[in-house]
Amino acid sequence: MDRVLLKGTDLKVSPVCLGTWQFNDGKSNIQWPVQSAEESKAIVDKCFDLGINFFDTAEGYAGSEAVLGKALLGRRQDAVVATKFGFREGPQTPPYSAQQIDEAITRSLQKLQTSYVDVLQIHFPSFVKDPKETIAELNRQVALGRIRYYGFSNYGPKNMKEFMEAGGKPVVNQIGYNLLWRSAEHAMIPDCIKYDISLLAYSPLQQGLLAGKYASLSEVPEGRRRGKLFSKDSTSLSRHGQEGAEQEVDEALKKMAEICQNAGVQMSKAALSWILQQEGIDVVIVGASTPQQMVENSEVIKLSNEVVQQLREVTEPVKAKIGLSLDQWAPQDRCE
Ligand SMILES: NC(=O)c1ccc[n+]([C@@H]2O[C@H](COP(=O)([O-])OP(=O)(O)OC[C@H]3O[C@@H](n4cnc5c(N)ncnc54)[C@H](OP(=O)(O)O)[C@@H]3O)[C@@H](O)[C@H]2O)c1
Repeated sequence: MDRVLLKGTDLKVSPVCLGTWQFNDGKSNIQWPVQSAEESKAIVDKCFDLGINFFDTAEGYAGSEAVLGKALLGRRQDAVVATKFGFREGPQTPPYSAQQIDEAITRSLQKLQTSYVDVLQIHFPSFVKDPKETIAELNRQVALGRIRYYGFSNYGPKNMKEFMEAGGKPVVNQIGYNLLWRSAEHAMIPDCIKYDISLLAYSPLQQGLLAGKYASLSEVPEGRRRGKLFSKDSTSLSRHGQEGAEQEVDEALKKMAEICQNAGVQMSKAALSWILQQEGIDVVIVGASTPQQMVENSEVIKLSNEVVQQLREVTEPVKAKIGLSLDQWAPQDRCE
């Protein structure tokens, strides 16, 4: 697999990154079914076979850092590892002080069984107490060699401006971006291009929906119907309180299936490749429940301009319905 250079770094990464939110050490959660540490390791092994060297985790993904750390033993130097700080004390994470960031990094290093993290990301803007204090602490961590670079995740245009004006030098912004969730196109993507920050697109298959494997939206597992594409009534797990965009999503998926069939391309591959053909997007961070899914996800193809345009057109109604919302889950957008 090719390598891309993350902007402002010496990190050469595969454009397909393995997202490890699903690594739960055999304990299912609201979003993902049970995945044993052995199954997770088999997925990591397959990634190495395929030339995928980039792995994304977070302290907020219960079990993930420890499972990934174990799976990387003996080959840490061949991997680029990104993690995130944030998520503690229940659903309303209070912001982190410099000391709490330091403690979070210590925990991450222990769980990952490593002496350094390649990219440390701020998971959500609200997890920062004071941008200047945070930037000073992140710079201190770089000087100590505990992190190589820092970036952020879920930072909207206003959040980014504030952080940059405080003197921050993030190298990545990790955002939710896929054919059914294109709100980042309004301002976030152009701003990342302006600031010269690498964009990492998370949930590129919209949690499996864009793999074309569900005959109807009601088949989507309940924990994956919590987002704003689905009506608040779709599941009691939903907390956004909005009407959703199910009709638009359903119509878009049917039209996408037809476009992919005519082009002779598997929908999951088209969905990932489409993202990587958008200006400013460097990497897709995709999760997997089996090694075979990563075989498919690693097969990035060059879609014709016509297919790229057709996919854009048939998903416009979903984009219009979603509007500017960058945050799929919370009632009040956490990314401004
Ligand atoms: N920064 C943030 O706030 C944030 C938020 C969300 C995600 N992320 C990152 O992004 C990563 C990926 O996002 P995600 O897991 O939410 O969504 P995703 O990558 O769009 O979807 C992953 C799921 O889709 C299914 N799938 C994957 N490849 C497939 C294939 N080839 N064919 C059929 N089904 C396939 C698998 O689930 P099944 O087989 O069970 O259907 C897999 O677990 C996360 O692990 C995390 O690292 C970050």
